[in-house]
Amino acid sequence: ASYTVDVIPGDGIGQEVTPAATACVDALAERHDFTIEWRDRDWGSDHYRSTGRMLPVDGLEQMADADAILLGAVGDVDIPDDVTLWGLLIPIRREFDQYINLRPSRTLPGVPSPLAGDKKLDVVVVRENVEGEYSEIGGRFRRGQPDELALQEAIFTRKGVSRVTRFAAQLATERSGRLVSATKSNGIIHTMPFWDEVARETVAEFPGVTLEKVLVDALAARVVLAPDSLDVVVASNLFGDILSDLAAAVAGSLGVAPSANLNPEREHPSLFEPVHGSAPDIAGKGVANPVAAIWAGGMMLRHLGQPEAADTLEAAFGAVLAEGTRTRDLGGTASTTDFTDAVLARLRK
Ligand code: NAI
Ligand code: MG
Repeated sequence: ASYTVDVIPGDGIGQEVTPAATACVDALAERHDFTIEWRDRDWGSDHYRSTGRMLPVDGLEQMADADAILLGAVGDVDIPDDVTLWGLLIPIRREFDQYINLRPSRTLPGVPSPLAGDKKLDVVVVRENVEGEYSEIGGRFRRGQPDELALQEAIFTRKGVSRVTRFAAQLATERSGRLVSATKSNGIIHTMPFWDEVARETVAEFPGVTLEKVLVDALAARVVLAPDSLDVVVASNLFGDILSDLAAAVAGSLGVAPSANLNPEREHPSLFEPVHGSAPDIAGKGVANPVAAIWAGGMMLRHLGQPEAADTLEAAFGAVLAEGTRTRDLGGTASTTDFTDAVLARLRK
């Protein structure tokens, strides 16, 4: 098999961790008999400074025939974050109908977790990725006046809620059969009862799955206090964003948290990226943890139909962590390339 993948390293440590991911995928290509054609895209904040746009005008068109997109991170200190986010990532998610944001988090041997005792976490947050609270509908009124107000509408559709809960229920059947739905229907009285109702109806199609709806505030506490009571969690765009960052922190570090923005029907390319951002505080120093980016590369391989290569990759970085090679964020001394070289050495064995 042969795949075409657009690579957008982007800004800051995106430039450092993305080559780690592509090198690992290339090493696997030899072993597992597939080829990847990388199309390098120098899009991001520099492109914005020179052209006023994060992406070229026809950037989405240029990527439309790709099998996948691999992203580092975008964002820089001198450009507002909403410009970078709405100028690149959100248009890609929406144009390619990547309505699932999949974020696995698990405690890994060799990765210190803030969890008490020997508690373990192994959860997948399935975040709705194209509607919900992230909407352009609303505005600011009576600017600067004492009675100024800002409105922002959340949008939930039957199609949107049912397809994300269906995806999560399917995933739950492949794991423990337990699905938790994040809600807030006690306080948010229109959209959240609707979310609960559509989720219940959808999950009823999966006899092997038990659905538990949990108020998102209590659920946040449960991620920390009783993580082993959770397996697959389905949540709206905003709730899923917060819960998955929390789960990543509980697992040990943002540096080990990957994510996939999926168009499950494969009508359009899906995008794979670390959860973390461009980390301007450590950019250019060669100390960024490449695990999140490498793991995102593994999620990409799974999506492309190379699950064995993905398993090989997860086992390889897991073994390197377990043997004690760690970057600074995990209390170690390895550089980005030290860690990556150790993974590559295992992949080439
Ligand atoms: P961040 O994730 O870049 O950094 C948060 C903290 O975690 C920093 O102290 C950083 O050094 C550390 N960190 C993150 N990734 C790490 C890694 N791989 N290894 C070691 N340490 C790591 O989040 P922050 O600081 O809120 O945002 C920085 C910029 O990134 C902003 O412009 C923001 O908008 C952007 N951003 C972009 C995202 C994307 O492209 N998908 C996602 C999140 C933020
Ligand atoms: Mg986030």
